[in-house]
Amino acid sequence: MTGMRVLAIETSCDDTCAAVVEGNRILSSVISSQRIHERYGGVVPEVASRHHLELILPVIEDALDRAGLSLDEIEALAVTAGPGLIGALLVGLSAAKAIAAPRRLPLIPTDHLHGHVAANFLEPDPLEPPFLCLVASGGHTMLAAVRDHGGFEILGETLDDAAGEAIDKGARMLGLGFPGGPALQQLAVEGDPDAFEFPVAMSRDPGLDFSFSGLKTALVYICRDLGEEGVLERKADLAAGYQAAIVGQLVAKLTRALALEDWPAVALGGGVAANLPLRAAVTRLCEEKGVRLKLVPISLCTDNAAMIAAAASHTEPIPWPGYLDFDAFSSGGRTSAGAT
Ligand SMILES: Nc1ncnc2c1ncn2[C@@H]1O[C@H](COP(=O)(O)OP(=O)(O)OP(=O)(O)O)[C@@H](O)[C@H]1O
Ligand SMILES: [Mg+2]
Repeated sequence: MTGMRVLAIETSCDDTCAAVVEGNRILSSVISSQRIHERYGGVVPEVASRHHLELILPVIEDALDRAGLSLDEIEALAVTAGPGLIGALLVGLSAAKAIAAPRRLPLIPTDHLHGHVAANFLEPDPLEPPFLCLVASGGHTMLAAVRDHGGFEILGETLDDAAGEAIDKGARMLGLGFPGGPALQQLAVEGDPDAFEFPVAMSRDPGLDFSFSGLKTALVYICRDLGEEGVLERKADLAAGYQAAIVGQLVAKLTRALALEDWPAVALGGGVAANLPLRAAVTRLCEEKGVRLKLVPISLCTDNAAMIAAAASHTEPIPWPGYLDFDAFSSGGRTSAGAT
């Protein structure tokens, strides 16, 4: 299904996103981040759904305007069907159905994680499977074997918290805003990553799974021992050590996966893939191993609708009216693509 002009919608969490994509070329991509969640220190599902309702139509109109197209020039609708917050997903899915149905357009329900992987299929410099993809985001952390465009196989995944979740929780303990990734990264620049000892979990585990909850507990204990003032004084060192431990585990598992199977290329996906020390460490690793590395632009790492269009162009569309009773799903995979 390559080459179609697709209007894609993504509302699985707290970003209201729409994009127009033709083949693997992004004609427009609009992301409206709901800053309101900052005051709560995390995403409030009910608030997210209400804001998606307010934002979805202006965001779609903006995406069409920027692409210089009208709805009449769109050939299919793509939409994230899950996993994510169910109320938030339903806003995007309902909008997609409401646009597609009167025009008798096909609709392509898409897996959000397939989207994070498929961001790598987009211009500039599109990557073709097979490749090994490390996906690290707010809700997921996994090593995905991408053997074709249509889906992926999970080789290893987190047994507890996701990397992004650990980053956000750690950042919160250090009094940084939400989401914590960018702020933690910035603060860590001034810190010494070796000043405190953080465990790099699962390093002796022979498999490819991850675990981040022990690291979070380690930070709790270090902060308790330092006391409030001590934490304030050593904030940069704590941020640097905590971030280094997360990056260390991600890179250790990627290294192990490369030792287990020959891969012609490595790619990253998900919001944590925006992290500069992670990008630098993976760049070094791939240079050492002589493996091609694809780093998607930072705007394609965190949630966006262009990646949903990229996944959709390799997913079977549902013709009208078959999708009218298609439902969103909060976890697991219920689209034809996604994890196997
Ligand atoms: N520069 C950065 N360094 C580290 N982490 C970052 C950076 N930028 C964003 N993040 C983290 O990325 C996460 C958000 O990623 P993303 O938008 O892909 O997640 P999500 O959509 O909420 O979760 P999922 O994709 O699993 O459903 C947050 O945890 C955020 O802190
Ligand atoms: Mg995401």
